[in-house]
Amino acid sequence: MCAKLHYFPRARALLSRAGALLPQMRAHALRTEPVSMEMLLRPAFFSAAASAGAKPQIETSVSLHSYTHHNRFLAKYKDRIKVFADVGCDLVHGAPTTVTARQALGPQARVHAVDIFPPGPGCCPDDFKAHLHSIVKAPLPFKCDALRLANVLNHLPPHQAEQALRHSLESLNEGGFLLGATHGEQFFLQKVNGKFQRVVDW
Ligand SMILES: C[S@@+](CC[C@H](N)C(=O)[O-])C[C@H]1O[C@@H](n2cnc3c(N)ncnc32)[C@H](O)[C@@H]1O
Repeated sequence: MCAKLHYFPRARALLSRAGALLPQMRAHALRTEPVSMEMLLRPAFFSAAASAGAKPQIETSVSLHSYTHHNRFLAKYKDRIKVFADVGCDLVHGAPTTVTARQALGPQARVHAVDIFPPGPGCCPDDFKAHLHSIVKAPLPFKCDALRLANVLNHLPPHQAEQALRHSLESLNEGGFLLGATHGEQFFLQKVNGKFQRVVDW
């Protein structure tokens, strides 16, 4: 009896604290909205996608080897990301973006570095597994929970960019993420019911 009287006020206090926190928790939940493949392939999409959402996703001074927003995203969702592929990762130069992604994800994730050109001398550390593969030609030979296509689509002619996007979608598990970047603008897509949705808040 005494114990009950003691716990009720505490339970009420906890509930009211949770109620106060709920709007903040909602504001930081991952939120997506539909986006069509046609939209994704329009150059205007990239700047619109980059500026959408509560967090700034544009880096004006882009370090070629560090995608800060991507790495923050990977660190935040690392519990969901067991397999990550950095596609078009510049293996020739040691896939520097893959190295920072591995650091963000921690040691428990399997990390794949994918490019059409082979690794340069001295590559690669034990941080990741290197693959020679064209994402234009076929989906990856394994499924992943997150896949990055950074500064790859914008170097491809439109029909190849479309193939690369379709094959990336096929390479993702349901609920998986595509981390994109063009000209330093970073954006996020999620595979929802077999289609891409744009992440507008995370
Ligand atoms: C401009 S670099 C971007 C490197 C790195 N992602 C970054 O943002 O610093 C483009 C990379 O995409 C690779 N690439 C081009 N076509 C590709 C394809 N079809 N499949 C996989 N990688 C490709 C190139 O070999 C190159 O390493």
